[in-house]
Amino acid sequence: MSTETTQSDLFKPFKMGAIQLANRIVMAPLTRSRSPINDAPTEMNAEYYRQRASAGLIISEATNISQQGKGYAFTPGIYTEAQVAGWKLVAEAVHKANGKIICQLWHVGRISHPSLQKDNALPVSASAIKPVGQSFTESGMKDHVTPRALTLEEIPGLIEQYRHAAACAKRAGFDGVEIHSANGYLLQQFLSDVTNQRTDQYGGSIENRCRLVLEVTQAVVSVWGSERVGIRFSPVSPANDMKETSPMKTYSYLAEKLNPMKLAFVHLVEGSTGGPRDIAPGFSFQELKSKFTTVYMANNGYTLEMALAAREKNTADLICFGRPFIANPDLVERFKEGIPLAQLDPKTLYGGGAEGYTDYPAAHGK
Ligand SMILES: Cc1cc2nc3c(=O)[nH]c(=O)nc-3n(C[C@H](O)[C@H](O)[C@H](O)COP(=O)(O)O)c2cc1C
Repeated sequence: MSTETTQSDLFKPFKMGAIQLANRIVMAPLTRSRSPINDAPTEMNAEYYRQRASAGLIISEATNISQQGKGYAFTPGIYTEAQVAGWKLVAEAVHKANGKIICQLWHVGRISHPSLQKDNALPVSASAIKPVGQSFTESGMKDHVTPRALTLEEIPGLIEQYRHAAACAKRAGFDGVEIHSANGYLLQQFLSDVTNQRTDQYGGSIENRCRLVLEVTQAVVSVWGSERVGIRFSPVSPANDMKETSPMKTYSYLAEKLNPMKLAFVHLVEGSTGGPRDIAPGFSFQELKSKFTTVYMANNGYTLEMALAAREKNTADLICFGRPFIANPDLVERFKEGIPLAQLDPKTLYGGGAEGYTDYPAAHGK
């Protein structure tokens, strides 16, 4: 272990809101599509998360708040009793291994397909604008369809889906929740002036486009208290055919409105999700960070060296790693001890069983 590594507070405890973390390394939400029965986690999923419990914090894979919110085959939900029971296995396993885990609350909006919806219904969004791309369905990849715009009368029911899922996550024993407002899914579809063409109080001005995110956050905070709630944004990521024309203005406004709520953290995907970090000339994540008064969690393409530098220069409070956690369940120990990282197998990312999921060994075998 180098001196730089030993001395860094990356490996030291940190209090994030009400949650005490053993270190500042976070496991990113990673969809693995391995909950095929009733969309409920199993012992296999619990084992996968247990293996990764030395992260200071685990953010669960994106978890559907309702069937309407589902857009990928075999992804878990958090709205039925069977799902609560499944997640209890996961939370207990992580806690037994002295880890912390929060649930990422997910509604995909238009990034879905009728075959994943109840009675083959159309997916919903802010506006009826078809995204370019395909859905991962139980019978393979299928082109997205033109979604149905949610009516004004449906919005309270949608917020209730988030509140109900948040309450289910609490009963399942999670340590908190992350609201998924990133990667082109429903909440970002409302934030964006490109995908949101509404003319009611949920569209048009920045205030109106941000209204749903803020109301959802309030509903989730009403269940958990603000100190166990965070939110994820990806202001400049083109993921899932997303575009926002003036992200700095929109997210600065969100910061102004979220700051008084005193959330546990704000989580930023810096750049194109899983891609280049420098895709938006003129957009500065450090400038955006300065507008938030809460804990800043940074993600996207971080290496150990970048994480150490981020702590040294205080450009982030917490560093969130995604892909490295897939093949390195003991990522924290490997970083600490300078052990080379294993490479993930792209063929086993989504769907299937234990192969490429729970069979990546820890360096010291655990
Ligand atoms: C297999 C896979 C699944 C992912 N699933 C999710 C997800 O469920 N929710 C989410 O917000 N981001 C998801 N992402 C994005 C990651 O959380 C993260 O932002 C991205 O991988 C960049 O971080 P990294 O460079 O450390 O991997 C996923 C990425 C990958 C590779």
